[in-house]
Amino acid sequence: MKAVTLHREQVYSGNLILVNAQYPLQQSTPPEQIRPLEHPQAYSENKTAPPHAQESFEHTAALPSSCVSLERKTALVLETLFTTIGSGSSLIPVSGFRTRREQEEIYASSLAEHGKDFTESYVASPGCSEHETGLAIDLALNRDPIDFLRPYFPRDGICGRFRSKAASYGFVERYQEGKEALTGIAPEPWHFRYVGLPHATIMNTHGFCLEEYLDYLKDFPYEGRHLEVHVENKSFELFYKKAEDDLTELTLPGYLPFQVSGDNREGFVFTLWR
Ligand code: DAL
Ligand code: ZN
Repeated sequence: MKAVTLHREQVYSGNLILVNAQYPLQQSTPPEQIRPLEHPQAYSENKTAPPHAQESFEHTAALPSSCVSLERKTALVLETLFTTIGSGSSLIPVSGFRTRREQEEIYASSLAEHGKDFTESYVASPGCSEHETGLAIDLALNRDPIDFLRPYFPRDGICGRFRSKAASYGFVERYQEGKEALTGIAPEPWHFRYVGLPHATIMNTHGFCLEEYLDYLKDFPYEGRHLEVHVENKSFELFYKKAEDDLTELTLPGYLPFQVSGDNREGFVFTLWR
């Protein structure tokens, strides 16, 4: 057996953190964890653009250099997925990691241009955006003009190929129709969130959004029956552990690789490779 000790602040990091209006981001992602996405036609977010810069976004699809960055592992997995489906320059990464300031600018710009209802539907309040984690990416089909806030990402063609492979690479379509009451965001078929394996596959199988998935996992506590799943020819064991005030200590089988993520609420999800 091996002993594992977790600090309370680890609740606020990891690939499964829930970031929404109810659970704002508690820890900013360290800059060394963020890197530019390598892509033949990465799209410029024009990060320093003043509010009302959306028109300029619509005409920058041919910019050669990438200004879209992501959390390191998310970037690597997404690049691999693009290579697997051979998307080349047919898909455009529109928006990835955003600093708090960038989210503030986007929010203010959207409010000024589109009003409150639109903005509350499609732009998370600063501090409550998954884009501030580096785990989220907005994608567009490469077709002018590209709408920065609501990129066109249909269900067929190369976008459909991306969708069909996304879960097996750990990405989920985060804001699906019918989940608005839970996510607080309108359907966004262009916004994908990296949660990793086997989580993306389980979420898709059950039709769970992240809010529902994390609640579901609480039914499999460390102290009780664990969830066993088979995904991509591998077996996994999952369980939830509520965090103690300071240190959380538990023991795991010594011979199994495992991963732990906070949920940004009050606990940890453990994933064991069996
Ligand atoms: N468009 C998503 C909800 C965001 O602003 O994070
Ligand atoms: Zn997004």
